[in-house]
Amino acid sequence: MSREISSIGNPDGVARKCRLPDDDFSPAWTSIKVSAGVRERLLAQSLLSFTMRQKLPFELAPLHGLILLTGAPGTGKTTLARGLANQIAHQLSGTKTTYVEIDPHALMSSAHGRSQQAVAKLFEQTIPEMAMHGAAIVLLDEVETLAVSRHQLSLEANPIDVHRATDAALAGMDRLTRDHKNVLLIATTNFPKALDKAILSRADHVEAMGLPDQEARREIISETLKAIGGVWKSVRALESDAERLAKIAEGLDGRRIRKEIFVAIGSDIETAKDPNKLTRAQIESAFRRSLSTQEEMAQ
Ligand SMILES: Nc1ncnc2c1ncn2[C@@H]1O[C@H](COP(=O)(O)OP(=O)(O)OP(=O)(O)O)[C@@H](O)[C@H]1O
Ligand SMILES: [Mg+2]
Repeated sequence: MSREISSIGNPDGVARKCRLPDDDFSPAWTSIKVSAGVRERLLAQSLLSFTMRQKLPFELAPLHGLILLTGAPGTGKTTLARGLANQIAHQLSGTKTTYVEIDPHALMSSAHGRSQQAVAKLFEQTIPEMAMHGAAIVLLDEVETLAVSRHQLSLEANPIDVHRATDAALAGMDRLTRDHKNVLLIATTNFPKALDKAILSRADHVEAMGLPDQEARREIISETLKAIGGVWKSVRALESDAERLAKIAEGLDGRRIRKEIFVAIGSDIETAKDPNKLTRAQIESAFRRSLSTQEEMAQ
């Protein structure tokens, strides 16, 4: 990313930091195929946080500035969250917008008391500093790592430190919400059951990302074939089979659908060496095989 500051030298737990809007983020918004209305809803729900929080007392308008995306692995949460951050920055034109991506895994340390301290520092120092001269949009990817459900933790299996880290995350979030109304947190989780209920309760809006529907699957297949067809021209002809292929792919997530098209290219050595040889039958059998693997693993 052109204006990205390398993660070397970034504060603890910050995986990426850059200014938005940035054109490199645009595909993240358009490449995730979701049913009509999801994009608009996410953008509107995020923007109202900037419109309203500074003008109304928290007691009357309990907005935390937290948007939560939930859904199975591979349903596009992280990608859409990045795209959303960029769209928000476009809407906030005239405001300096800093984007920060947190890697919660990097904050969780086995050393006694370290995780708690790192989490507290993130919310009390690192994020507020980013929002000093404008707005900050913070992606808390896989937030269940940061705020593990205290309800489900057993004290024998989990060090007290993990409990304390969750406490620190909640306390930190509350303080951030109160003192820095120009910060928006976008969190993702593919494991909402592991997420502390108090986080769910603080979310202003929860968007559940389901598996792609027929229309979304067709778009994903068309877009992937089109991209490949840009280089290996014969692949373009397969785009007319997208509707039929989308029916077969029912039950696969977006990531899996895209991957299986490449798996199909690897069906044999000839096709791998010349993707122009890709056939509809190869894609169909890659989808079918993937669905049966998925079924086997679910048993
Ligand atoms: N609905 C979708 N439409 C188009 N592409 C999709 C969709 N869902 C996933 N993908 C593809 O899968 C890739 C991975 O998605 P992403 O990493 O955002 O998923 P995720 O929900 O964050 O998964 P995880 O829970 O495993 O972190 C995307 O870059 C995209 O290519
Ligand atoms: Mg993700």
